[in-house]
Amino acid sequence: MATSSSNSSAGQTWSQRFESALHPAIALFNASIGFDIELIEYDLSGSQAHAKMLAHTGIISPAEGEQLVAGLEQIRQEYQAGSFQPGVEAEDVHFAVERRLTELVGDVGKKLHTARSRNDQVGTDTRLYLRAQVEQIQQQILDFQAVMLGLAEQHVETLIPGYTHLQRAQPLSLAHHLLAYVEMTQRDWQRLGEIYHRINISPLGSGALAGTTFPIDRHYSAELLGFESVYANSLDGVSDRDFAIEFLCAASLVMVHLSRLAEEVILWASEEFGFVTLKDSCSTGSSIMPQKKNPDVPELVRGKTGRVFGHLQGMLVLMKGLPLAYNKDLQEDKEALFDGVKTVQGCLEAMTILFAEGLEFRPARLNQAVTEDFSNATDVADYLAAKGVPFREAYNLVGKVVKTSLAANKLLKDLTLEEWQSLHPAFEPDIYAAIEPRQVVSARNSFGGTGFEQVNRALAAAKQRWQQAS
Ligand code: ARG
Repeated sequence: MATSSSNSSAGQTWSQRFESALHPAIALFNASIGFDIELIEYDLSGSQAHAKMLAHTGIISPAEGEQLVAGLEQIRQEYQAGSFQPGVEAEDVHFAVERRLTELVGDVGKKLHTARSRNDQVGTDTRLYLRAQVEQIQQQILDFQAVMLGLAEQHVETLIPGYTHLQRAQPLSLAHHLLAYVEMTQRDWQRLGEIYHRINISPLGSGALAGTTFPIDRHYSAELLGFESVYANSLDGVSDRDFAIEFLCAASLVMVHLSRLAEEVILWASEEFGFVTLKDSCSTGSSIMPQKKNPDVPELVRGKTGRVFGHLQGMLVLMKGLPLAYNKDLQEDKEALFDGVKTVQGCLEAMTILFAEGLEFRPARLNQAVTEDFSNATDVADYLAAKGVPFREAYNLVGKVVKTSLAANKLLKDLTLEEWQSLHPAFEPDIYAAIEPRQVVSARNSFGGTGFEQVNRALAAAKQRWQQAS
């Protein structure tokens, strides 16, 4: 290595084939250290495992292996203390670490890269990084669910209008509504657990693309790093980014769910709905309209969703035309992945805080909402059908009932028994109890429905599942 060369990164790290330095703007353009420093902890662990494997297989001596591992550990401490801050001259985190290692332990540092390429190295780092992030996101999903389960428990008997087409449809137990999000995020949690196994495969030892001439033991380093298996094909090992795409896909679905919930909170907090009030800790004011309290948290979650979808799309396009094996295009995977991870983590945290302490449901307003509409009309049809009137006939008749009520400016509960009976002789005094909102909800006792009995069962099942997962 031409360490004394006046060249910048070229002279430091590349073979003597290079005679002149990179153009400074190109050095900057080429460098990934500005973002891949995020991988440093994983790069150090990956290199320690590689060094141990080199010693284990006799490719380097045990003493050399120990020196490398200790030097790498020292870099970890320097980084954590803030004293190791490589600049753009290092090009990327892998060169930065190797260079610092050689400064710390001398020439033996130059042995670290034996039987390895940055191509399998960066793949290893990225998988170690993502594995840790997925574990964290799964934990955050459980934290979110804990808050939603706690709220559901408080609100089994609180009613909320249910909508289709954003038109009042049928009243619901508020717990049923909240538990729908527990189910969605449960699939997210599961999905992340499934893709974890395809993230957790070691490419280390694939070399640049074709393997290596050294008698390495890929299974040994994989086991040290907690990988479940090793890539069977070295070309695939260095150029596969399926795991990153799968992650962004799973992350996109988390964001779909959070964004739908965010949209509901935004609606609920509006004057028009008035179903929740936002607490000061989670809402902001307007710089000009003093009466306003804005739902910035759910709006940001809804907005940030687009970034994650964009990263998924970007990564698919990044990969689609790449010939085997490594191409520098792959350096572009990192910012997408890092931003996707941070966005999902940030949004999960914010929504958990919002539901834990940033909003309050307004039971009086919710109760008023479910009593002032025609969302019990299906129950009138069901009432008649239960008395033997064919459902379609009952349905048509109730249409007439609603029309009559609207014309008289009345709700169904305000019709007199004479009015009911003039519409159909099957109506009896028990019609009033049958269309009372609480009864309307309670009666939907089919499995998975909003009836209180079902909701209590679903809540108990979700709590048990949560306990097993945590
Ligand atoms: N910084 C590079 C990346 O992120 C590391 C791998 C470089 N490999 C290479 N053959 N230039 O992809």
